Amino acid sequence: MASLFDIAGKTALVTGGVNGLGRMIADGLLRAGVKVYVTSRKAAEADKAQREMSQIGQCVALVADLASAEAAVALANELKAREPALHILVNNAGRTWGAPLESFPDKAWPQVLTINVQVPFTLVRELLPLLRAAGASGDPARVINIGSVAAIAVEPLSAYSYAASKAGIHQLTRVMAADLAHENITVNVIAPGFFPTKMMAHINNVDEEREKLLSRIPLKRLGTPDDVAGLCIFLSSRAGSYFTGAELVIDGGLANCR
Ligand SMILES: NC(=O)c1ccc[n+]([C@@H]2O[C@H](COP(=O)([O-])OP(=O)(O)OC[C@H]3O[C@@H](n4cnc5c(N)ncnc54)[C@H](OP(=O)(O)O)[C@@H]3O)[C@@H](O)[C@H]2O)c1
Repeated sequence: MASLFDIAGKTALVTGGVNGLGRMIADGLLRAGVKVYVTSRKAAEADKAQREMSQIGQCVALVADLASAEAAVALANELKAREPALHILVNNAGRTWGAPLESFPDKAWPQVLTINVQVPFTLVRELLPLLRAAGASGDPARVINIGSVAAIAVEPLSAYSYAASKAGIHQLTRVMAADLAHENITVNVIAPGFFPTKMMAHINNVDEEREKLLSRIPLKRLGTPDDVAGLCIFLSSRAGSYFTGAELVIDGGLANCR
């Protein structure tokens, strides 16, 4: 039975994997014996993370500012120069923008949509040769997109371009899954609820806001590193090989149990 969940020996790329949700996922994959590439915009943070994460397993931190499709192409080229195959691509790097509707700026649209939707698409397109090389019948290559409950439920975040971008990556997941199924490449989207990262510090670090949020979550807690790492390990294993085009909601019941 253990071999059903065994992913040791695979190679993964987790964008934005040096901190936040990406770090939770990357650390979990490393613990499961995967060679993990992570990215950060900042060289110092990438170096520090590589040192720390190499204590767990084989980890390479690359510097990439994924604010443009060109940067995604460059990152893919770097991967292609280093690896013959990529078993797991986790499109995690992302950003949000919150402001009242009346003053929500136009510039918050292209910036958020580029990193949250276009860059994941470009990375898949450019990494297709490596994904094809890794995919096998019964154990396909996995693309795991990080979406959000904000794509499926209305959260009081005033994050208009973010919610639209996450709905976009959810639908893009289904479209790409249909295109790539015959190539032994699966594409799924994880929709996290609330995990304590920098992105949600404005809620988590304010007692009153945190209590309000917890009162709305049926399981009465935030997500943990094990929650999201466990789901990614499962999806990357043979046990998860029959999922494609799926939306996996991991939110303590926030979106669906109310
Ligand atoms: N936390 C939650 O509750 C939650 C809920 C739903 C969905 N999510 C999703 O989870 C993903 C990670 O978010 P998080 O919560 O971990 O937030 P975070 O702590 O703010 O982390 C954002 C990550 O994205 C990377 N990033 C941002 N802009 C980038 C850019 N231009 N180029 C390259 N990397 C960039 C950051 O890397 P560097 O700063 O190191 O460059 C960082 O690793 C996002 O897609 C987010 O939408 C999070």
